[in-house]
This record gives sequence, C-alpha cells and structure tokens, in this order.
Amino acid sequence: MDRVRIGVIGCGGIVKAVHLPQLQSHGQADVLWCADVDAGAARDAAGRFGVPHSGTDFRALLREHPVDAVTIGTPHNAHHDAVMAALEAGVHVCCEKPLAYNLSQAQEMAGEARRRGVITFVPFSYWFVPAARLLNDLIDAGELGEILHVTGYYAQGNALGRGPLAWRYQKAIAGSGALGDLASHLFSLTSLWAGPIARLTAQMKTFVHQRRLPGSETEMGTVDVDDDVQLIGELAGGGLVNLSASRTYTGRGNYQRVEVSGREGGAVYDNSKPDELSVCLGRAWRSRQAWGTLPAGRQHRLTQMHVFVNGILTGKAPAEVRPNFEVGLEVQKVMDAAERSAAAGAWVDVG
Ligand SMILES: NC(=O)c1ccc[n+]([C@@H]2O[C@H](COP(=O)([O-])OP(=O)(O)OC[C@H]3O[C@@H](n4cnc5c(N)ncnc54)[C@H](O)[C@@H]3O)[C@@H](O)[C@H]2O)c1
Repeated sequence: MDRVRIGVIGCGGIVKAVHLPQLQSHGQADVLWCADVDAGAARDAAGRFGVPHSGTDFRALLREHPVDAVTIGTPHNAHHDAVMAALEAGVHVCCEKPLAYNLSQAQEMAGEARRRGVITFVPFSYWFVPAARLLNDLIDAGELGEILHVTGYYAQGNALGRGPLAWRYQKAIAGSGALGDLASHLFSLTSLWAGPIARLTAQMKTFVHQRRLPGSETEMGTVDVDDDVQLIGELAGGGLVNLSASRTYTGRGNYQRVEVSGREGGAVYDNSKPDELSVCLGRAWRSRQAWGTLPAGRQHRLTQMHVFVNGILTGKAPAEVRPNFEVGLEVQKVMDAAERSAAAGAWVDVG
C-alpha cells in the first residue's frame, strides 16, 4: 500500500489541533472526508485542511467515499457508535481516549476489532513524549530492575475557572470527569512502564458542583462527574502504585509528574521537561542517592498519528501498533474498578 485514505469523525478541538495536522504532515495520508453532527464544524475542518468532502452522517460518508481508516475525536458517549460503524465497514480505526463510555462498550469494541483483525489505535498522547519513550527503553533494557513503585499525579486547574458546564462536566456525555479525561493517561503510562494494575482502592470527589450553563451568565447547571480521583493499587507484577488526577489544582495548566522506582534504578518523568528524564541508575549513583539528567534521543521522537498510518502502510500486525484498543481496554478496566471502589469504599480487583 502506497497511500492511506482516511475519514475523520468528530471535528472539534483535538482533531483540528492534532489529528488533522499530523495526518497532513505525514505525506502518504489522504483525508477524504470530515464528519461531525455539527455541519458547520465538519465544513470548517474540511475547509481548513483541504479535505474534499464533509457532512453530518458518517455512515453515509463511509458508504459514498470508501476509506482505509477512520480517526474518531467525538465526546465519549459517541465513540462506540462510530467505532462499530467503522469496524462494520472493515476499516482500521483510531479512536480517542478513553476508548469508551463504559467498560462493556470497550469490551465490545475491542472484541469486534480483534475479530476483524484490523489495526486499532488509541492516542494516549503522553506515550509519545520523548522522555516517556526513553523511560520505556530503560525499563525494557532492565536498567530499573523490578518495578516497586509508580507514584504520579496529573494536575490541571480548569475546573476552578468560570468555564461553562461543557460536556466534560456531564456524566451522560463524558461518563466520568478527571477519571476518564486525565487519570486514563496516567493509567496508560503505568501500563506502558510497569504492566497492568491488578487491584486498587480509589476515592473520587467533586469540588465545584455548579457551573453556568453554556450561553448563559446566570443560569447554573450541576456537575455530576468527579473533579478529582486518587487511587492506590497493586501491579500484577507485585509493585505498588499511587496515582492521582485532578482538574482542581491551583496554578496548574497541564502538569504531570511520575516517579518510577525499581530495585536497580529510579526515574522521574515530568511533562514540563519533555526531552529529558531525571534518573538515578547504576550502583555508583544509587549508593550516593545521586540523580542526573538523561536526554532523550532522536529515536524517541515519534508523531502519534504517523505511528497509526505507518502501521497500516507497512502491513503491521494489530498487536505491533500501540497504544491500541487492547491498551484502551486495559485502561478502561482500571477506570471501571476505580468507580466501583469509590462507590463501595473498598478494595476491588481490576477486570
Ligand atoms: N489525547 C489527548 O491528549 C486528548 C486531548 C483532548 C481531548 N481528547 C479526547 O478527544 C475526544 C474529543 O475531545 P475534544 O476536546 O476534541 O472535544 P470537542 O468538544 O472539542 O469536539 C468534539 C466534536 O465531536 C462532535 N460530535 C459530537 N457528537 C458527535 C457524533 N455523534 N458524531 C460526530 N461528531 C460528533 C462535536 O460536534 C464536536 O465538534 C474526547 O474523547 C477527548 O477525551 C484527547
């Protein structure tokens, strides 16, 4: 295959900021259509990126303008419909995180993709931060030894602002708040570096209960998702995790810090320094509790949508193109367990 034909479903923030520019910069990807329930949004995206067709009905576009793959960037309650329609059409699928609105939908989506044998992709973007990939290489090379701890947090402050009751604050559309929006990224990084979480206990909290309704200065609506989630858990490999994610951290825009500590070495990933890792590796450094900075290399610079397109162009097996739906499903199981645990106030098994 020389070129990949692509359809886009959902033409909002992330698709215009990341999916479409990265597809355009690939050189062997042709976006044939843009679909959005909002006709203006579909037209605008198509116009901006030189895409020939746009419309509100992705099923009709799939039929009328056949493609090899779709990329989906809708709110969470619409992921399942779009993914199942694309799988039905037999095309490769990229679907934004979290994979689904809930676990049963995620299981159905991942199961159908497995049955169809297509390439899938879930853009857990922080897998593509050079420092995150460098850490992955160090772990694969055994530099950290057995992982004993993954301790991290993801802090945003947007829920403290006066922003309206957008879909992200509504359970019927988003499914959850900080859990699916932010913690899902931490769970995906934990999966990359340390494997699956086996059991956990979690707490979820909403700090800002009312937000103004979109388009109104005075009328208020209720936030029915979490602003904040914290969990401790145990990895299938035996190590321990301590992770939290929040939309209510004062002074934070989009900050992540995760320390991964093994018997042989430790590393701190900090997304404000995307090209370097803070590390303590090797006996001489360990014995002196000395930390230094390790730069990421050229091999750690990957563009997420290029990974998806290259997987299709080179005929890779679905398991080789990651993060795929299997990773999305693993993350969704942790999200589901966190909700069950928070509701019951108890430890629960994941899965
Ligand atoms: N990977 C990341 O770092 C990252 C960052 C931001 C958002 N996201 C994810 O991307 C997805 C979209 O988020 P966003 O911020 O771009 O949202 P957005 O609100 O900016 O855009 C969503 C678009 O989808 C359209 N839409 C809604 N229902 C639809 C349907 N049934 N069919 C077709 N189009 C539909 C809306 O009209 C809107 O244009 C979410 O899953 C979100 O969690 C991921």
